[in-house]
Amino acid sequence: MNGRGSRRAVSGLRSAESSRQEPPPRGAAAEKDPTTHFGFREIAAAEKGARVRGLFERVAGRYDLMNDLMSGGVHRLWKEALVDRLDPRPDLRLLDVAGGTGDIAFRVAERLGEGLREPILVCDLTEGMLAAGRDRAAERGLSDRLAWLCGDAQSLPLPDRSVTAYTIAFGLRNVTDIDLALAEARRVLRPGGRFLCLEFSQVVLPVLAQLYDLYSFRVLPAMGAAVAGDRDAYAYLVESIRRFPAQEALCRKIAKAGFDMVCYRNLTGGIAALHTAWRL
Ligand SMILES: C[S@@+](CC[C@H](N)C(=O)[O-])C[C@H]1O[C@@H](n2cnc3c(N)ncnc32)[C@H](O)[C@@H]1O
Repeated sequence: MNGRGSRRAVSGLRSAESSRQEPPPRGAAAEKDPTTHFGFREIAAAEKGARVRGLFERVAGRYDLMNDLMSGGVHRLWKEALVDRLDPRPDLRLLDVAGGTGDIAFRVAERLGEGLREPILVCDLTEGMLAAGRDRAAERGLSDRLAWLCGDAQSLPLPDRSVTAYTIAFGLRNVTDIDLALAEARRVLRPGGRFLCLEFSQVVLPVLAQLYDLYSFRVLPAMGAAVAGDRDAYAYLVESIRRFPAQEALCRKIAKAGFDMVCYRNLTGGIAALHTAWRL
């Protein structure tokens, strides 16, 4: 883990930008143009949610194993970094969006132990991921500390100002309209609430960028084919990372959604980044 988010990181980002495709316009512009990207493919925006859900339904059973294999376990350190930054307190009312099989929620619940007063809400689009998460929660004896909701980050099934923290780990990249998801995050947060987004980002170290490209485009899809029997799902993973806004661009989106004190920290040379903000 290294790096610290700062405006100075921007010049470093530029060098790797050639291998990164700019995401298409969103929000109002996206309404006029009803297409979006699914990895490197252009598809009808209305189709993306179903495709993403289908993909995660297919990989749900192997999702956790693949995460460990693909990242060599480093995703665990990144998730710990998110929870460190959240610094959970007993009065936390947490919504973990795109919470999948529960990795963030389990960490928070385990840190707070008996101190957790309100169940952690885990919301995800894909029933299969939630089902895998419920099984894991039962194995860990955490079932009564979590509540699982099937729902879309773009229209959360929660009232306004109902949570004190919103987390999303490796989920925002998959959402069709990022601006809409950010607006929803702000809507459900109480004033004084925290927003934390962990996501793959843009590598800021040129040497690492070359190795990472090689690994991403050659090794990962082959690993997906061998272990999960699904080369396409892991090719999508790599492509979707390249289409996701880089560190500073994501800061601008978060600020545009009405959040304050937006900042980020690079993790492992920018392979991932942790963006944080306040809803004031
Ligand atoms: C890469 S997984 C991340 C899971 C978990 N947060 C983690 O870090 O291990 C992405 C998750 O996002 C969910 N997802 C994709 N689009 C979504 C949306 N629009 N709303 C809510 N969840 C979504 C998928 O179903 C999947 O479980």
